[in-house]
Amino acid sequence: MIERYGRLDALVNNAAVGRVGRLTDLDAEGVCEVMTTNFVAVADLTRLALPHVRRTQGDIVMVASALAWFPAPPLSLYSATRASVHGLVAALRRQETRDVRVHEILPGFVATEWLAYASGWRPTDARPHAATAIGTAPSRVAAMVERC
Ligand SMILES: NC(=O)c1ccc[n+]([C@@H]2O[C@H](COP(=O)([O-])OP(=O)(O)OC[C@H]3O[C@@H](n4cnc5c(N)ncnc54)[C@H](OP(=O)(O)O)[C@@H]3O)[C@@H](O)[C@H]2O)c1
Repeated sequence: MIERYGRLDALVNNAAVGRVGRLTDLDAEGVCEVMTTNFVAVADLTRLALPHVRRTQGDIVMVASALAWFPAPPLSLYSATRASVHGLVAALRRQETRDVRVHEILPGFVATEWLAYASGWRPTDARPHAATAIGTAPSRVAAMVERC
């Protein structure tokens, strides 16, 4: 980004993986994948972006989840990673008091493909009229990101 555009106005940390299962249902590889994607990458990308975003007085946007507040047992580790992002936001807001705005979005259910698979609410041959997924429209979350 810096090489191509010479500046960075904002970083949106949205990517995540949600492995459904209690902690004991996951193997070591699954634990590493969820932690690396959902927290380590968020912290590391933010570390790399911050000096550039300070220069433009820009924005860091974190998409976490309401599960940060109310962990759901079938998504135990995923919930913990969303809580860790919530903690990082609190720390960054204290650290970046001058030039960077740190935003956090904590959606409830969002009607994405992932939720449809994770919840079993995907239409099947047996249940052709099942909702693709419950939850708020992804476009509403995208609009919140845009407003940051
Ligand atoms: N869906 C919900 O109910 C819900 C509720 C609250 C919060 N959220 C949060 O919303 C955000 C988006 O979730 P979603 O529901 O939209 O999930 P999703 O449909 O599975 O999308 C996840 C996104 O993350 C990307 N991604 C995953 N692993 C990656 C990696 N290693 N490197 C780069 N990109 C990677 C995926 O890219 P590819 O498509 O290329 O794999 C995909 O674009 C997450 O932070 C999640 O915690 C979702």
